[in-house]
Amino acid sequence: MLQSLTDKIVGQDGALEQIVPYVEMYHAGLAPEGRPVGVFLLLGPTGTGKTRTVEALAGALHGNEKALLRVDCGEFQMEHEVAKLIGAPPGYLGHRETTPMLTQAKLNAVTSETSNLSIVLFDEIEKAAPSLNRLLLGVLDKATLKLGDNSTVNFERTIIFLTSNLGARGMNRELHPTFGFEALTERPKQEVGRKLEQIAMQAVKKRFTPEFVNRIDVINTYMPLDGPALDRILDHQVADFQRHIRTRLGQDAFYVELTKGAREFLLRNGTSEEFGARELKRTIHRHLVQPIASLVARGEVEPGSIVLADCRRNQTMLSLRCMLDEEAA
Ligand SMILES: Nc1ncnc2c1ncn2[C@@H]1O[C@H](COP(=O)(O)OP(=O)(O)OP(=O)(O)O)[C@@H](O)[C@H]1O
Ligand SMILES: [Mg+2]
Repeated sequence: MLQSLTDKIVGQDGALEQIVPYVEMYHAGLAPEGRPVGVFLLLGPTGTGKTRTVEALAGALHGNEKALLRVDCGEFQMEHEVAKLIGAPPGYLGHRETTPMLTQAKLNAVTSETSNLSIVLFDEIEKAAPSLNRLLLGVLDKATLKLGDNSTVNFERTIIFLTSNLGARGMNRELHPTFGFEALTERPKQEVGRKLEQIAMQAVKKRFTPEFVNRIDVINTYMPLDGPALDRILDHQVADFQRHIRTRLGQDAFYVELTKGAREFLLRNGTSEEFGARELKRTIHRHLVQPIASLVARGEVEPGSIVLADCRRNQTMLSLRCMLDEEAA
């Protein structure tokens, strides 16, 4: 399992190595009772793979990256919205319209034949209303949640992820010092990592009560992605695009190939410490996926052909050439 995750999530082995043992404990039947199987808080800059990790774990556990229950905490910033999670008590206005989001049935729906462990993701936890934090405290502590209609949901067979950008601004300042000695020197990666961890933990302690923090099993700060990591992520993204072409177009599929120049162009334009791999994803979309899609729409790509993306020095976009097999050889 660790292998399949490190194949997908680049440069964050530390986090994965801490998560996997909890899953293994559960499958060995040795997870403690009366609490969730594991509670993880994933911190760190945007676009470094926090949400992606949870999706990849769903893929590894259930063969389906969407097999998880996701609560977008940004949607629960106001106290009254929290009722959407647990449902309104009977007799309340709107009681019938609200099907709670966190029910036993919904937890069961994200299991599979291979595993009955449900993954629950509370994304961007810092945005949640205080009452959501209180609810969560009960879930983390006793693995139970009381719904509006007084029934309870059992979270003993769940693994819970909280993600947050807490401390992101401070981390950015740390990554881009604008004056002084630190702006001038290359600092070792480990030192930067430790500093980011500190900043994240300070922000966490400021935002959450000690009892909340104490109920989290692992707090992990994701590191900014460096050049070699982005290079590997580029490979992943191109392979994903190729898979997409194959499944969508079937008989009419074609192959995408990139020259060294094209790779360098995408990496040059898609590298951003501020937005992590999100910037790379956007760049690939704008400069590779969209232009190829318009070639296809114009009927200019023969089935089975190779679309070669290239970039000469100083060009501001990729050039695409559609070749038949013999030509490519
Ligand atoms: N470490 C990584 N390995 C592989 N792909 C990554 C990695 N980090 C980011 N990506 C790619 O970038 C996309 C965005 O990453 P993700 O959604 O995981 O960011 P995040 O850390 O959750 O950021 P945010 O704090 O903004 O939610 C992913 O869908 C994935 O394609
Ligand atoms: Mg995310």
